[in-house]
Amino acid sequence: MELLWKLIVLLSLVERLAGSGVLLRPVFTKQPGSVVFPIQPGENRREVVFSCEAQGHPPPFYRWKLNDSFIQPIPGSRYSLMGGNLQISNINKVEDVGIYQCLASNSFGTIISREASLHVAYLENFKTQRRSPVRVREGQGVVLLCGPPLHSGDEDDEESFELAAEELERKILEAIAITTFD
Ligand SMILES: *[C@@H]1O[C@H](CO)[C@@H](O)[C@H](O)[C@H]1NC(C)=O
Repeated sequence: MELLWKLIVLLSLVERLAGSGVLLRPVFTKQPGSVVFPIQPGENRREVVFSCEAQGHPPPFYRWKLNDSFIQPIPGSRYSLMGGNLQISNINKVEDVGIYQCLASNSFGTIISREASLHVAYLENFKTQRRSPVRVREGQGVVLLCGPPLHSGDEDDEESFELAAEELERKILEAIAITTFD
């Protein structure tokens, strides 16, 4: 019986707190994680979502930073806020790479999330200019030089790195084949 009374008192207290001006500092329930985004040639959906969620009273509002400057998720920009989540569309390998952090604020104060990085893994095409033919005498050796095309990838992220490495190998083989049979 005593327990029931305690429960009733506690419940009404919680209700009053929620309805009143009592402040509860924001606490993260979700924080962003780092992303390696592979840009594939011909891939149109280039979208990344960083998640962020916090609880507090009053309910917190959210802001995001990229490399210490605030992101402006204004309509028409490539950024949009969905709750606390930040969606970036049309990922750009120059403008979007860096360190992201979410900030959750209410009248109690502001908390800042851990750092989440965005890397872009990409592999551009070989230069398409044709090479001049190479003539060799039978039995002699020849060295065909081949520089890799512009590329970037985070070697910590095995999947996208392997993908990029395979693609690179394929392109080098193609380039050698073209040069050899020219
Ligand atoms: C953010 O900082 C990193 C590391 O200094 C840099 O490589 C990157 O280009 C910066 N991103 C932007 C959008 O300025």
